[in-house]
Amino acid sequence: MPESLGIAVIGAGMAGKAHAAAYRTAPTLFDPILPKLRYVSIGDVNQELGAATAKRFGYERTDSSWQAIVAAPDIDVVSVVVANRLHREIVEALLAAGKHVLCEKPLSDGLEDARLMAAAAKRASSVARVGFTFRRTPGIAAIRELIQDGTLGRVLHFSGRYWTDYAANPQGPMSWRFKGGAGSGALADVGSHLAYVAEFLAGDIRSVNGGRLATEITRRPLPLGSVIGHDHAEVSDVYEDVENDDYAGFSTEFEQGVGQIEVSRVAAGHANSLNFEVFCENGSATFDQRRPSEIGLFLSGGSSTTNGFRQVILGPGHPYLAGGLPMDAPSVGFGQNDAFAYQARAFLDEVAGVDGGLPLNASFDDGVHNMEILDAATRSAENDGARVDVAQKEMAR
Ligand SMILES: NC(=O)c1ccc[n+]([C@@H]2O[C@H](COP(=O)([O-])OP(=O)(O)OC[C@H]3O[C@@H](n4cnc5c(N)ncnc54)[C@H](O)[C@@H]3O)[C@@H](O)[C@H]2O)c1
Repeated sequence: MPESLGIAVIGAGMAGKAHAAAYRTAPTLFDPILPKLRYVSIGDVNQELGAATAKRFGYERTDSSWQAIVAAPDIDVVSVVVANRLHREIVEALLAAGKHVLCEKPLSDGLEDARLMAAAAKRASSVARVGFTFRRTPGIAAIRELIQDGTLGRVLHFSGRYWTDYAANPQGPMSWRFKGGAGSGALADVGSHLAYVAEFLAGDIRSVNGGRLATEITRRPLPLGSVIGHDHAEVSDVYEDVENDDYAGFSTEFEQGVGQIEVSRVAAGHANSLNFEVFCENGSATFDQRRPSEIGLFLSGGSSTTNGFRQVILGPGHPYLAGGLPMDAPSVGFGQNDAFAYQARAFLDEVAGVDGGLPLNASFDDGVHNMEILDAATRSAENDGARVDVAQKEMAR
């Protein structure tokens, strides 16, 4: 076990802060004790934001160039939390310098770049992981356990939606999220999460069909200042074209079972709602991110007069809650930021060679496979909903 680990986060925006905070929380959760963590640097081209974030989360310094983090001998572990099109260059340089990398999803903005990143990860001696945070959500992890232990059994049908409304206002500012080709909008941004969750529960997607992409707000005003995350900054009267999808939908064929995935960034009133039903051979389960530590559960075979969906509030004994909260008492609740802490803890455990019992984070090959699904959905949409095969995971890995 290393004596200490130096940590940096590149990108101090919306998700960057979640990573910065997660590294501070991670050593306080679960067993065993991690090596000493040194909170070294927050990297951001926006110096003011970088400095404020470093101060707020207790990091020693801020670096306005990510190259300085690559070159820093006191940094071992780095989260890459910037626009998708910047992931490859930064991640490859970090891996070549021997840093352990936790890269945000989607792995990149293009499938070819993602494949090159996975090849770089294979050559590297350090750990390379992708941040599919939702697998750490107690409700989702609990449903997966019920599927795998046979309580719910084999998935017959998955129906999922990820509704967000960060782009519902046509006067919302232009940002990196609206640039890039077909499939780089809502599909890449939130569809990457939902496709990962669908496979986490129902197994490998073999093909997709019925792909549909739509851009409903085609121009957006440029911001007057910098835009962080989904901020609605002040805007100018200069407009630019939106280059990607506000809405995406597609059907999936799993190894066994079928599914439907729909995502949107213009779903007014649903700021952040990943929700799904999963219908299985012995019953079904429902999940809504707005209540992340509870699930709806229906088990077949009960009394025809009293059986029905029941609300199960997750508590100690369910995945991530025992030991995963400072006060892990029944019904104390869980929030999405906690999932970043569990993700950071699993990453640090792996880097430090500590067996904390948490499942590993997704590999770069998983990140490539996830992008292959999104690419297949895009090609389906471009070909009137045609069926498109997804490369088998065994071949991709
Ligand atoms: N797992 C999740 O739930 C989740 C949530 C949101 C975003 N994300 C992912 O995180 C990544 C970042 O998204 P975000 O919403 O935080 O973006 P953001 O726009 O809020 O923040 C990006 C930050 O990167 C900085 N930046 C730009 N160029 C840079 C450079 N060359 N070097 C260093 N910093 C630079 C910007 O100044 C900004 O502060 C994306 O890949 C996104 O898909 C994941």
